[in-house]
Amino acid sequence: MAILEKHRVLEKSPTLLLVASLLVVTVGGIVEIAPLFWLENTIEDVEGVRPYSPLELAGRDIYIREGCYVCHSQMIRPMRDEVERYGHYSLAAESQYDHPFQWGSKRTGPDVARVGGRYSDAWHVDHLMDPQSVVPESIMPKYAFLADARLDGAQIQALLETHRFVGVPYTDDQIASARADFFVQADPDGDWDGLVERYPGAVVSNFDGQPGLTEMDALIAYLQVLGTMVDFSTFTPDASR
Ligand code: HEC
Repeated sequence: MAILEKHRVLEKSPTLLLVASLLVVTVGGIVEIAPLFWLENTIEDVEGVRPYSPLELAGRDIYIREGCYVCHSQMIRPMRDEVERYGHYSLAAESQYDHPFQWGSKRTGPDVARVGGRYSDAWHVDHLMDPQSVVPESIMPKYAFLADARLDGAQIQALLETHRFVGVPYTDDQIASARADFFVQADPDGDWDGLVERYPGAVVSNFDGQPGLTEMDALIAYLQVLGTMVDFSTFTPDASR
């Protein structure tokens, strides 16, 4: 058959086969990648997802600095065992303001994508101070020093500006109020109405239970918001797009 004969020519010449393979891969690649340049957004917008509050954002930085991501993923796969253990599978939109995202694939400890609200602040304090005091068989290291590391908020406005630079839609109001919002989120007696208006659903609490603002406060504020922004009792995936 003629077509087989022609194909044999390709198979017998390494150079020709290489050039032809490259051509096929190039066309395939363009078909897959090029449309992304014309799409305004490849992530489906989901109600409730908002940029992190200043304190949560600072906590996220501590999470990254301490390498928590080395043992914890933040991505619940759409498989039954995962969904039953951790809750609704992760949506792309839930990581949309994460720079860099914290999905990961290595789980020495559990996935923490929906750990927000699962434990009290006091549980987190005990657990971070000494994980074995609450989970005796835990191999998680102690992070007690976070409770002594004071935060002065000197960099917080610049941190929000940096995230705006890479595409997080912080408003001028959010940037101007960054430092005040940073402190008031850990001060339930303070005037936090503006904070909750700017960051709907933000939890205001003295996270570490001691006076003053520490890295422990920031980290727990971050852990407590994880996976809580979308209301899954009303969420329906929009498959029409
Ligand atoms: C060496 C690996 C390791 C590192 C690093 C690590 N963890 Fe863990 N983590 C674990 C293990 C194992 C568990 C399960 C046992 C337990 O609850 O302590 C766990 C449990 C947790 C839990 C409870 C999750 C749940 O759903 O029960 C939270 C929250 C948590 N870690 C947060 C952190 C944070 C924040 C950091 C960084 C400051 C961190 N971990 C660093 C191993 C690690």
